[in-house]
Parts: sequence; C-alpha cells; structure tokens
Amino acid sequence: MKNSRRKFLQSVGLLAAGMVIPISAFGFETSKKLKVVLVGTGVRGISFWGKRLVEHYSDILEFVGLCDINPGRLEFGRKHIGVHCPTFSDFEKMVRETGPDLIIVTTKDSTHHEFIIKGLGMGCDVLTEKPLTTDENKCQAIIDAERKSGKKLIVGFNYRWSPYNTKIKELLAGNSIGKITSVDFHWYLNTYHGASYFRRWHGLKNEGGSLWVHKATHHFDLLNWWIDSEPSEVFAYGDLEHYGANGPFRGDKCRTCQHRSECDYFWDITKDNHMMRLYVDHEKYDGYIRDNCLFRDEIDIYDKMSAQVKYKNNVVLNYSLTTYSPFEGWRVAFNGTEGRLEAWLDIPYQRGETLDQSEMHALEMDQSGEDDKNQEPVIVHRLWKDFETVKVPMERGGHGGGDMRLQDKMFKNPDIPDPYGRAAGLRDGVMSVLIGIAARKSIETGLPIAIKDLTDLEPGETRG
Ligand SMILES: NC(=O)c1ccc[n+]([C@@H]2O[C@H](COP(=O)([O-])OP(=O)(O)OC[C@H]3O[C@@H](n4cnc5c(N)ncnc54)[C@H](O)[C@@H]3O)[C@@H](O)[C@H]2O)c1
Repeated sequence: MKNSRRKFLQSVGLLAAGMVIPISAFGFETSKKLKVVLVGTGVRGISFWGKRLVEHYSDILEFVGLCDINPGRLEFGRKHIGVHCPTFSDFEKMVRETGPDLIIVTTKDSTHHEFIIKGLGMGCDVLTEKPLTTDENKCQAIIDAERKSGKKLIVGFNYRWSPYNTKIKELLAGNSIGKITSVDFHWYLNTYHGASYFRRWHGLKNEGGSLWVHKATHHFDLLNWWIDSEPSEVFAYGDLEHYGANGPFRGDKCRTCQHRSECDYFWDITKDNHMMRLYVDHEKYDGYIRDNCLFRDEIDIYDKMSAQVKYKNNVVLNYSLTTYSPFEGWRVAFNGTEGRLEAWLDIPYQRGETLDQSEMHALEMDQSGEDDKNQEPVIVHRLWKDFETVKVPMERGGHGGGDMRLQDKMFKNPDIPDPYGRAAGLRDGVMSVLIGIAARKSIETGLPIAIKDLTDLEPGETRG
C-alpha cells in the first residue's frame, strides 16, 4: 500500500506540472491511505470520481468527506459511491474537519473556482472536472491561488487519453504531414446529447459559460495538444436559433408537459430509475429540475457556434459546434507542409453504424469497461503519394476509453510512459477555456479577441 500511495503522489505532480515535480514536493504522509474529499455529488461526481474510484483504487485511497448543497442528493450519492464517510453542506468545515490530501471538484462549472481557490488556500492539492472555470476573472483568481499556495491543480481532461486521439497525436508528432499549417475541426452533437445541455444549468451562460466553455473546452484542449501551441487570437460567430425561445411551445417540465405527445424532444425521466433517485427525488430541496423544458425563455447560450483561432505558431483553426445534428460525431483535418491528415468518429455514412443515437450517448458515458473493439481509420495523405489508412483499435465506453486511462495513470500506474504528454495541468485548463471565453466575447463585441489580454499568461509558440 505504501508503494501504491507513493506512486499516486508522484502522479499528482506529473499530471499537474510535467516531469519536474519531485515527490518530496508533497507534504503527504506516505504510510496511510490518501484522504480524498469530493464536492458536488451529481452524476459525474458519484459515478466516475466516486463509485469508480472506490471500486478500482480502494487499496490506496479512502473518501473522508462528501459535500453538496442538496442534502438528499448528498445522502443518495454517499450510498451510491458505497462509503460511510461524513457528509457536509459546508465545504470549509469539511476540509477543516477531515484534513484531506486531495479535493475533487465536480460541482456545476460556475462554482469550480470557489472550491479550487479555497482548497488550494487550505493547503490541499485539487483535481477539478473540466472546464477549469467559466470566465477570465475566475481564471486569473485560480492562477493566483495556485501560485500562492504551492499546491497543485489537475484538470480532468479525459479526451486526450482515448487511443484514437492519442494515435492522431502520435502521427502529428511523428511529422507524418510536416509542419501543421491549418486545421478544420467540426463537432456534431445529436438531438439527444445536444438537447440534454438545454434541459438544465448548462443552458445559462452564467452557470456553464455556454457550450463554448462547457463543451468546447474538451475540443480546444485536444486541439492545443495536437497543434502543440497556444492560442493567440479568436474571432467567432454564434446564435441561438433552435432551442430556448425558438421552440414552437414550452411547458413546465417534460414529465408533466401538456405538449409531450407532439414534442420531438419529449424525454420520460420517470423511465430512468437512476435519474429519478439522483435528481427528481431531491427537487424539493433546491428546485433543480433535471427534465426541464429545452424551450425555456431563460436559455441564453448559443446552439450554433463557429470560430477562427490563430495560434502562436501561426496555425489557423476553423472550428464549429452544432447542437441539433441527426447524428453525433466529429471530423478533423490537418493540413501540413508535407500532406494532410484526416480523422473522424461516428459519422454514420462512413462506418456501418447500427447504434441508435440515444444509445450512443449512454455508451459514451458508460463506465462498465465492456466494449466494442472495432477499428477506426485515420487517413495520412502525403503530398504526391497515395493515401495511407492507419487503423486504430477502438473503445467507445467512458469517453472513448479516455476516462479509465486517465484514472489508471493517476492512481494505479503513474510509471506508464506518457511520451505524448497527455497529463494536463493548470496552464492547459486555462488555455482551453480562454478560447471559448474569447469566442463568447468576440460574438458580444464583433471583434477579434487577443488571448494575452484575458489573464497574465502570455501564450507561447509551443505549449507551456
Ligand atoms: N469530463 C467529462 O467528460 C465530464 C462529463 C460530465 C460532467 N463533467 C463535469 O462534471 C461537473 C458535474 O457535472 P454533473 O453532470 O454531475 O452536474 P450535476 O448538476 O448533476 O451535479 C453537480 C452537483 O453539484 C452540486 N452543487 C452545485 N453547486 C454547489 C455548491 N455551491 N456547493 C456544493 N455543491 C454544489 C449540485 O447540487 C449537484 O449535486 C461539471 O463541471 C461538468 O462539466 C465532465
């Protein structure tokens, strides 16, 4: 156990800041289990960062506290995770009384900064779910807090860890198309997954920072990593034309809606036992409605988004995000001085896709570890040559196999080589959210936005 815990401590350093942090930088005792607390017992907190940690890494860690503002969800979450630790509604009280080594933050996006800053200030390392935060002022406050605390912050970017995305990185880093000059990246959310963001807090800019931040932070992090540079300027367009006030009718919530028989987006939460137990049973405490109407007037985020991003190494990125596509999938193409690399996943016309679109989202979130093991192509086409098809063995569950690999690297085997630098720390978290924050500002002002004007971090020609 001693050895495993030591390995974990090592991996926190590696994940947070590259290969330079010695184990001695951490003040943990090495003879006991790692003491973990978690704030935000919603679906992500209790499943991926709760139950899964207990099932896979109980030999080196133990939950010593859980915190949420909703007492019903907190108690349900504790039982679901399968622990007997104390629960708290007051975060600082939890940290004071339990003295954790690591704080895991899985609250809604607009509140991440609060727990990151308090946690670092109280002398703990912190792991936060993406996105790091939702605006540039909170970003700067987090940067200042990490500098002042001497503790470490890890951002849980899982997409980098999927084998398909890693293969793209490997091919680009191996100079398969020469120096990258421009990139096209397009992500299509279907009418199940895309619509789900408009049913709850994600539909409000103040809560999730808009999908430019909440969702696109994943994409911008991948792009920053693939391109291996930092963004310098962003220009964007976006609008809300499908959901929100654009809907033909609106109701109270799906469950009780008078339009349920005519609404294509009707979702019967009462058929999902886990959703009922986790959310509906505890609405009385905080009014959090999980199956809210996605045509609510209050929705103010964009449902179509398009941006151009210029990188410090002169790469130009064309990016788009659609939220009501008939299928869920994505495409990327890299143009380079010596060729072009193309990759895509889940485009139904380009593979023998037989899965129902609602099943696809459930599989993406699935943590069971059972998988389809198909192979998917990446095309490398060098100038003046025929194209080559590189086949990548696939995993679909847990965000393309990324979820499991990220946790294994942290908790189980930090010695697994990571030649492509998949570990993400504060700077990666900042650079990915700043693109989305800049895009939002660009739409609001009609102007290009310089990344260097948003925080005191100066974007670098290569990733910092
Ligand atoms: N990496 C990924 O692929 C991935 C996937 C899903 C969610 N996430 C992230 O995980 C986080 C949680 O998402 P979710 O879907 O579980 O959301 P959720 O709304 O289901 O859960 C959030 C929980 O935080 C609690 N909460 C809100 N404000 C709080 C506060 N001030 N103090 C204490 N508790 C508070 C809520 O009561 C709720 O229980 C989000 O940041 C989201 O972006 C990441």
